[in-house]
Amino acid sequence: MKIEFIVLAAGKGKRTKSELPKVILPLGGEPMLFSILHTLANFNNAKINLVVGKGAKQVKASVNALAGPGSKLYSKLGKKIKYVEQKEQRGTGHAVAQAFKRISNDNNAIAVVLYGDVPLLQQDTIKRIIAATQGGEIGPTTAKATRNIEASAVWLVANLANPTGYGRIVRNALGNPRAIVEEKDCDSAQREIREINTGILAAPVPAMKKWLKTLLANPPQNNQGEYLLTDLMELACRDDHNVKVLQAKDMQEIQGANDMWQLAQLERTLQQRRVKALALQGVYFQDPARIDILGEVKVASGVRIGANVVFKGKVKLGADVVIGNNCILEDTSIAAATSVHDFCHIKDSKIGARCSVGPYVRLRPGSLLAEDAHIGNFVEIKKSKIGKGTKASHLSYIGDSIIGKNSNIGAGLITCNYDGKNKHQTVIGNDAFIGSNSSLVAPVKIGNNAIVGAGSVITKNVAKESLAVTRAPQRTLENYVENQANKTKSINKAGKKKSQRKKK
Ligand code: UD1
Ligand code: MG
Repeated sequence: MKIEFIVLAAGKGKRTKSELPKVILPLGGEPMLFSILHTLANFNNAKINLVVGKGAKQVKASVNALAGPGSKLYSKLGKKIKYVEQKEQRGTGHAVAQAFKRISNDNNAIAVVLYGDVPLLQQDTIKRIIAATQGGEIGPTTAKATRNIEASAVWLVANLANPTGYGRIVRNALGNPRAIVEEKDCDSAQREIREINTGILAAPVPAMKKWLKTLLANPPQNNQGEYLLTDLMELACRDDHNVKVLQAKDMQEIQGANDMWQLAQLERTLQQRRVKALALQGVYFQDPARIDILGEVKVASGVRIGANVVFKGKVKLGADVVIGNNCILEDTSIAAATSVHDFCHIKDSKIGARCSVGPYVRLRPGSLLAEDAHIGNFVEIKKSKIGKGTKASHLSYIGDSIIGKNSNIGAGLITCNYDGKNKHQTVIGNDAFIGSNSSLVAPVKIGNNAIVGAGSVITKNVAKESLAVTRAPQRTLENYVENQANKTKSINKAGKKKSQRKKK
């Protein structure tokens, strides 16, 4: 059986009051539309007809960045996507009809309509809907499917305590579903109905093609003046087609995002899902409600995470890693038993085992810390390797540097890596000692076991085992304060006498 997915992503998204097309507003760190596309990547025998309209260029550009030719997801996802342009946004029925212009009339194909703004729908639910078209929930390989009986049309519905904003399922006297009425078109009794349309629908391709043709044959008869996909239920019933509704099992996955508040709620739902999955893998969270996973986090056992932590991109945490409060970790891996203390910002970095980082550390892209390194408060590191057991405990900038093992970087070290035009490298060997408040003007090398005296500005290489000091020798002027005071007094006296003579 072939599956034609039709993903609606052309709407104006007026209620979001945003300049951006609704489906590329962020959810879980990615454009909202990616959620459903990631889910569809798992269906092998399927085509994805992506209907774009408002901001089509932006929507296509972001989908291409995710799954375009050359991307990792191209063969699994990008290759299956066909763009369909809906030039005028004339409603969800009109949008699906545009996709059908390119879908061939295959009797064995099932069309499944999904909404870009209902992003949390799970793969299993989509499978259930497809299975339900084949007469059961057991899947397309059942005996009934092979007997070529026309598949059912299936709508995914849900019973919500608060159905505001959703289309209502209207049933006939026998209790069978008869029509979907949009909230704006509901009378007061219909408004009380709690059974709602999730928007997700599956039906045989030829049947859906026929109903869409009928829908578009006459001008719309509703308060929105749009061709509503929801009218297909009534058309299917009139056609005596087997119409089914399938109850959603999870009320969270069918939520739509029509405005920024609904989007914010979806974000919380998604975050809760992600945090729960990690907690069930054994991660301790100080407060699960104050975590943002805007990407993917892989964990080993015994990980503990503080409050207000944001993960972006791909983050890997080894066994017994501890992350303090208020940290931002992006595309970073941290090996076993390392602690990242409060208020650290770490991006594109790799941290070895048993390190201590923070509080208040910034690791910029390309920071590589070997095991047992200690990086303390107010240290910024960029594109640098820090050797095993090396310590930089306070207030330093280390950029474009390679530092060996067991070296000590004193407070206030600056590697002067930039001459206004180019970046240069600093190399510090093993067991070196760099005194506080020193500047190493790159390119420069400090040998193994070498010492740099505090307050030095080093512009030439320092050989191994040497001491380099560049500060001026100390002068001490004894009784300086008293002498200065006496000097001032005598100047004042002389000045007074002069002015008295002038007056006379
Ligand atoms: C829709 C359903 C409603 C259902 C709800 C579930 C219709 C008419 N109504 O309402 O019954 O309860 O979803 O979330 O289908 N779109 C286009 N082209 C258009 C109009 C919309 O591509 O011309 C796309 C939008 O980008 C969006 C999706 O279709 O992804 C749904 O449109 P939206 O305006 O959000 O419909 P709802 O009012 O949520
Ligand atoms: Mg919607």
